[in-house]
Amino acid sequence: MIVDIRSALIASLALVLAVAPANGQGTDGRASDDSGPFYGEDRPSPEFHRGRRQAVLEALPEDAVAIVLASPERARSNDVDYEYHPSSDLYYLTGMTEPSTILLLVPGGTEVGGKTVQEILVVRARDPATEAWTGRRLGAEGAMRELGVQLAVEPERFEEIAGPLIETRRPYVLPWPAGLDPGSEYGAQVAWLKERIPTFEPEPGRAGALQRGLLRVNDAAAYDRARGMVERMAGAAGPADGEAARMARAFVEAGSVDAWLAWRDSAMAGFANSTDLESVLSDLREVKTEEELRFLQAAIDATAAAHRQALRSIEPGMREYEVEAVIEYVFHRAGAEHTGFPSIVGSGENSTILHYESNRRRMEDGDLVVMDIGAEYRGYSADVTRTAPVNGRFSEPQRQIYEIVLAAQEAAIAAATPGAGFRDLNEAASTVLAEGLERLGIIGSSSELRRYFPHGVSHYLGLDVHDVGTYGPFRPGDVVTVEPGIYIRPGEGVDERWWNVGVRIEDDILITPHGPVVLSAEAPKTVAEIEALMAEPGPASLAAGE
Ligand code: GLY
Ligand code: MN
Ligand code: MN
Repeated sequence: MIVDIRSALIASLALVLAVAPANGQGTDGRASDDSGPFYGEDRPSPEFHRGRRQAVLEALPEDAVAIVLASPERARSNDVDYEYHPSSDLYYLTGMTEPSTILLLVPGGTEVGGKTVQEILVVRARDPATEAWTGRRLGAEGAMRELGVQLAVEPERFEEIAGPLIETRRPYVLPWPAGLDPGSEYGAQVAWLKERIPTFEPEPGRAGALQRGLLRVNDAAAYDRARGMVERMAGAAGPADGEAARMARAFVEAGSVDAWLAWRDSAMAGFANSTDLESVLSDLREVKTEEELRFLQAAIDATAAAHRQALRSIEPGMREYEVEAVIEYVFHRAGAEHTGFPSIVGSGENSTILHYESNRRRMEDGDLVVMDIGAEYRGYSADVTRTAPVNGRFSEPQRQIYEIVLAAQEAAIAAATPGAGFRDLNEAASTVLAEGLERLGIIGSSSELRRYFPHGVSHYLGLDVHDVGTYGPFRPGDVVTVEPGIYIRPGEGVDERWWNVGVRIEDDILITPHGPVVLSAEAPKTVAEIEALMAEPGPASLAAGE
């Protein structure tokens, strides 16, 4: 039978890439309108977001006003912007995905137009002429109808509502967007707020990250954990002088959380306090609700499907970005809007570069390829890594390292139980990695492991790929990654057969009272499973008519 070659190719591609299409892609009614940034029907419910706002309102003092700002639109070059992505905190609290949005939460309530409200969302006005160019906007009416906020208003009412609130209450702001055009409506609103709200400015870079971390410490357990870390950092790695160093010294010298909070409150007197709002949101966002887990699982399923198709596709001679294309096609086919982070497809020497993103190299027979990828579905991001031999069969040295990393990963996953913490996972993985590398003669003692395993084994996962959380003991509902790796760069002082062996294996784990649940188990990971899948024909060769 002769069939049209193009339809045959498209049909075979669709068959091979058989992934469930997105749910809820209805065409009737405003809620499923796909012409704007709004997610339509299959999204976290207005009740979910309302519950999150309620939790924040209850956690803040009665005299607070919390101001949560949309992340800025960012210029890529000339008049082209990067694709817009909403800030996770604002999305978590509202479901709003449009730029230039401001949420005001008022625990004590405020009267607007004769109605007492605790939540006000400032959204861009409807504007048919602009919408014809850049897509639909919800507008104030749409925001109240679709998102269920008590009151949504357009920017022209912002100052009249926000002014008295800032004057009469303690403002908590999260986060100040940088690099806004002051001539834009949103840029002007943020500048207006900034003039009225004195804000502590952390130092740039790592020193500022340290300051933000210390300012968030507000209970005894967090103080003890952070104090040990700051003491270890003091000296070579710690900031030598400046404000961050002064704060780190005060932190250690305080000796107890109460003394630290007294220092913090006096040093931060007069500044708006956003760290308590950050802490409230970190605490809430760490533990996923059942509804959130459904979206996270959809992102993870899309990512596991992408790994399966990538493994079928990979062969010597392909460029890394061709594998990336297969992966991201599967993401979209499964209904994911974005990647949660730039896809990492690193072969040969690139397998030893932790966050390699250029994905341009031509893959060769004998290489390993590390694929660290994550679909983002309705804001929730997966993060799953698989490592495979480009020619479909692990060489003996590659297999030996792979088995050690896999055993280390399994040991760390087994330790992921309520009450344990990131340090336990690191220890479990590091012990197995060090023993394995010692056995192969690659290191002489466990103190040398850091050379080949230079990163932590785990982080929280959720709306952000490196999600926020308390870093306290694990709680049921936490989702964490477990991702040990070994990276041996060319030129290392070990036998050449180990050079260019970069292996990372990463899964997404739900903490439950009944033990760890591997949410990404659909992505194959034993040597036998990977080699078997790589022997199957892949969508890339089918599409090329091979
Ligand atoms: N994909 C980044 C990470 O694994 O943390
Ligand atoms: Mn990753
Ligand atoms: Mn990760």
